[in-house]
Amino acid sequence: MTTEHDMHNPDRPGSDELILVAGAGGFIGGALARYFHDKGCTQIRAVDKKPVHEWYQRVPGVQNLCMDLSREENCVRACEGATEVYNLAADMGGMGFIERFRVECLRSILINTHLIEAAYRAGVQKYFYSSSACAYNTNLQKDPHPRPLKETDAYPAMAERGYGWEKLISEMFCQEYWAERGLKTFIARFHNVYGPHGTWDGGREKAPAAISRKVLEAKYSGTNTIHIWGDGTQARSYMYIDDCIKGIDLITHCEELVATPINLGSSELVTVDELVSLVEEIAGVRLRREYELDAPKGVAGRNSDNTMIQRVLGWQPNTPLREGMLRTYSWIEEEYLKRNAAVPINGEGKTRPLFSSGVSHRNTAAASAGSPR
Ligand code: NAD
Ligand code: GDD
Repeated sequence: MTTEHDMHNPDRPGSDELILVAGAGGFIGGALARYFHDKGCTQIRAVDKKPVHEWYQRVPGVQNLCMDLSREENCVRACEGATEVYNLAADMGGMGFIERFRVECLRSILINTHLIEAAYRAGVQKYFYSSSACAYNTNLQKDPHPRPLKETDAYPAMAERGYGWEKLISEMFCQEYWAERGLKTFIARFHNVYGPHGTWDGGREKAPAAISRKVLEAKYSGTNTIHIWGDGTQARSYMYIDDCIKGIDLITHCEELVATPINLGSSELVTVDELVSLVEEIAGVRLRREYELDAPKGVAGRNSDNTMIQRVLGWQPNTPLREGMLRTYSWIEEEYLKRNAAVPINGEGKTRPLFSSGVSHRNTAAASAGSPR
């Protein structure tokens, strides 16, 4: 299928050339595999470390492989015959994960290190890397009313410890593979991404999904109380998954962006309290708020400066938060009810909520987020 954008981008692969999506069992990789399939690409190889039955999305017609891409030989196998490689594989999560499991985050360097080398050796034409706003200097993010981060704000470097530094050094790999070896690389710095088919419990979930789940727990358990990490003033912008996927495609097919990190994020800034109010409104409840001041908070404020993406692509992520959260909350509610329906009490066919709203962030993170995937 040729879209209007394709016609302006003659360097796009044909629909029968092989695309590799690494991390396709996860949130963004799964959505990307579906997107390419829906666009008419017939040769998609999807790879993830998780067993295939645990993938968030399994797209018909796609070759799904369970392989650990921190191992060189698996990267070589994954890249065989590929024209484009999209690296969405990383051991990551929201603040509850990346503040507590820095070693796991740092070890993702193995994935990109082996995958980019394998891509280069396989003669891949384009290599996309999913970086993060966590690569930005944290000293610029101490204010809950932040100045939006522009691409030059990564240096001088003071990235998020662990996760952010791994992203920054992987960006450098991408830039040097282009400079020294001529592999065309593309680097997007994602700002907090949310949407259906993402992680919504277990300790790796990010604020939009975590707050949706907590509102659901409070609503269905009748406690009417929500536990919020921090004092509620932390500010973020959240990008809806469809915008993220469209942005990946546009960036990877823009010659001006070779080896050039670019923000891919929404610029609609909200505080955590405002996000909670929005979800309450969607759910039709008002909850008592309890603030957990010693919970993982991350930076005080982070927003995306979209001057560059607008200039280069004439586009920026534009799904309103309210619209995206409506779809996300509805999907999480369905999942929540499905899961709870599967847990009978005393074999009487009655159900109980799986999650108690009083579960502390420490227990949640330690119980499941750190377990090997
Ligand atoms: P995710 O956790 O849902 O997906 C990542 C996938 O990578 C998982 O399915 C995981 O099993 C897989 N993986 C981990 N180690 C692997 C290995 N050794 N071999 C093969 N697969 C492995 O996360 P996501 O939200 O889809 O994130 C995708 C990418 O985008 C990551 O690089 C992440 O750091 C980046 N990113 C995401 C966000 C966000 O808000 N979601 C923000 C900034 C950057
Ligand atoms: N996860 C989570 N769960 N966060 C909560 C909760 C909760 O129940 N309650 C309040 N928050 C607050 C956090 O304390 C933090 O201040 C804010 O919501 C956002 O948290 P996250 O969504 O977990 O992460 P982040 O925005 O700090 O970082 C995320 O985005 C980066 C890109 O912008 C992470 O996903 C990073 O991995 C990602 O790179």
